[in-house]
Amino acid sequence: MIRHFTHLSDLSPGELLALADAGLALKAAPPRSAPLAGKSVAFCFMNPSLRTQVSSAVAAASLGAHPLTLTLGGGAGGTWGMETVEGVVMDGAAAEHLKEAVPVLGRYCAALGLRSFPSAESWAEDKREPALTAFRKYSTVPVINLESATGHPCQALADLMTIRERMEPSGKNFLLAWAPHVKALPMAVANSAVEMAAMAGMNVTIARPEGYDLDADVMARVKASCDARGRTVSVTSDVMSAYEGQHVVYAKSWGPIAPYGAAPAADPDFRAKWIVSGAKMRRTDSALFLHCLPVRRNLVVADEVLDGPWSAVVDEAENRLHAAKAVLLDLLAPGARTAAASSRRHAR
Ligand code: CP
Repeated sequence: MIRHFTHLSDLSPGELLALADAGLALKAAPPRSAPLAGKSVAFCFMNPSLRTQVSSAVAAASLGAHPLTLTLGGGAGGTWGMETVEGVVMDGAAAEHLKEAVPVLGRYCAALGLRSFPSAESWAEDKREPALTAFRKYSTVPVINLESATGHPCQALADLMTIRERMEPSGKNFLLAWAPHVKALPMAVANSAVEMAAMAGMNVTIARPEGYDLDADVMARVKASCDARGRTVSVTSDVMSAYEGQHVVYAKSWGPIAPYGAAPAADPDFRAKWIVSGAKMRRTDSALFLHCLPVRRNLVVADEVLDGPWSAVVDEAENRLHAAKAVLLDLLAPGARTAAASSRRHAR
């Protein structure tokens, strides 16, 4: 069976922690050999990206692989427009079906990455993740989720590495802090952040306005992970109290499930209530501040926080590179990954 890296729910907590260890080992001691020499990896993007695009390509190259970054259906310089639905009459814009394109890419490449954001028209349809599901279904090689509608596992792996560089997460307090924005953003990063924190044994608090609850399936997994480790999960709109005693504050904006795609209120008082500010961070237990980036300064988070002692957002972004290496080695050369992790254990 082909192993993919598409959803945190496919991993056990131990497997996630081992991947984070492998990423940190690769950061401390990059491999001297080229364990993926002779292989090519295609990273396919249906949406914009800075960190994911560059970190994936650099990670593959640093391991000796040849990276290709493809814009799916992107007009000149991109591939043909891609159809995801089976059985349709393809008389629209899409000239090629993923049913051919994905296995064709598999004849050239050892692994495929895909970024496919939600359409923001129907949560029920987006939750099916038609493009990622098609990649998994038709691919003959491992598929890596570079952010889909429901999750961003590569980001969560880098987030866990960033936390583990500073503290043992088990038993610590993790706050997912909803933040203002000009539009309804996907829930993927927020989902993966709380799933990762729960799998790492943290107490999880979500501070969000009424109407901004995460998907019930995600919350069920978070609750099950926390229950299994004797940790707590709480959801609140009492934003100031939510920051008390936190060890990690993860800021993210996301849109409501209903009305799906509706932009958050632009009211200045609402924005002031939910922005991550220095006053809020001072209520924490000297918390680490994380955000996946890109971030809108002074809308999502105040300059004082991003430029202050709490912030690890650039380290977090760097860890995307080492996380990507760990994922590629795990899928394509697991022996090499084990050797790297083992050398880190011996170095401790
Ligand atoms: N954090 C993240 O995925 O960044 P990009 O959207 O720039 O890839």
